[in-house]
Amino acid sequence: RGAARPRGGSISRVEPISVLDYEPLARERMHPAAWAYLCAGAEDEVTLRENRAAFERLRLVPRVLRGVSAPDLRTTVLGTPVEAPVLVAPMGVHGLAHPEGECASARGAGEAGTLMAVSTVSSRSIEEVSACATGPLWFQLYVYRSRGLAERLVRRAERAGCRALVLTADSPRWGRKERFLRVAGSLPPGADAASIDSEVGEEDLAPAALTWEDVAWLRSVSSLPVVLKGVLHPEDAVLAVEHGAAGIVVSNHGGRQLDGAPASIEALPAVVEAVAGASGGRAEVYLDGGVRRGTDVLKALALGARAVFVGRPVLWGLAVGGAEGVRRVLGLLRGELEHAMALCGQASVGGLDPELVSRGAR
Ligand code: FNR
Repeated sequence: RGAARPRGGSISRVEPISVLDYEPLARERMHPAAWAYLCAGAEDEVTLRENRAAFERLRLVPRVLRGVSAPDLRTTVLGTPVEAPVLVAPMGVHGLAHPEGECASARGAGEAGTLMAVSTVSSRSIEEVSACATGPLWFQLYVYRSRGLAERLVRRAERAGCRALVLTADSPRWGRKERFLRVAGSLPPGADAASIDSEVGEEDLAPAALTWEDVAWLRSVSSLPVVLKGVLHPEDAVLAVEHGAAGIVVSNHGGRQLDGAPASIEALPAVVEAVAGASGGRAEVYLDGGVRRGTDVLKALALGARAVFVGRPVLWGLAVGGAEGVRRVLGLLRGELEHAMALCGQASVGGLDPELVSRGAR
């Protein structure tokens, strides 16, 4: 099949064989400023690198002779069935990667049998995305100074059929993406937030300094389940459960907010333990950050995540092949997860052996 990673000028005719193969292909297709924005972590990108490094430090210790021939990857997330526990993370402005933006990604996710979280700052409006979608959607909410805007967005997400609200908690201000700032002062065309009403002023779009009362407020204005995204501390996970969160995303925003925050996979076990203690396991725990391989997914599941969200690789797939590219990236992860489970003697994602992961040699 030739080199796995095409190098040099011409685009290889070889089909990408892993998710990481999409990265250089996407780069060739994207505007340099859009590319820098997509890749960037905050400041020195310590956390961005650590998300990957921490996965690489973990070892999978397989079990043998268990007669597993066809692992079952199906699960549910807040009651919604998905073909595999690999979901699409909320990301702004998919229009930077492909002219069809979120309409193509939502189709790709649906065709892969999974759900997508639509960002507040999507380049297609929530109504347009829902009209194109072939699978379930969640809506990610940034709360800005204008609470009226947040409430209008929630109503629209409900009417568009979104099944949960993902409140992003790690962004009381925007992380400094220096890699992006060095190449560009602003984003190229394709970066307009289509769901934000045009009459909302710049000042109203500053992030709000949210408190736990805002979680209660969000629950009071909507009957949709609330998922809190951006939790790393176990005590915050307990508070999230106490304030009625139905789910928690252990996340450092793909290293784009606080540089120096721990890798999400390192923060996961303590959060899982705290949530189990707080609610008897009623809140679901998800993880995102640095998931690039089926073995990463398996490590996260074995450490207690119900599902993972994938960020950048979805936009790589989108840039390379639109909806089909997204479907393929998600399909690669799903295929690798299935393969890893078979090699580890694990029959289903619901019954994973927690002993599967060891810290390994450093
Ligand atoms: C994001 N992320 C994000 N999160 C969120 O809650 N709302 C948003 O609008 C965005 N926008 C966004 C844009 C881009 C270009 C990226 C790369 C990320 C963070 C995202 O949901 C997720 O936490 C990370 O992307 C996960 O890490 P990986 O998979 O990209 O390593």
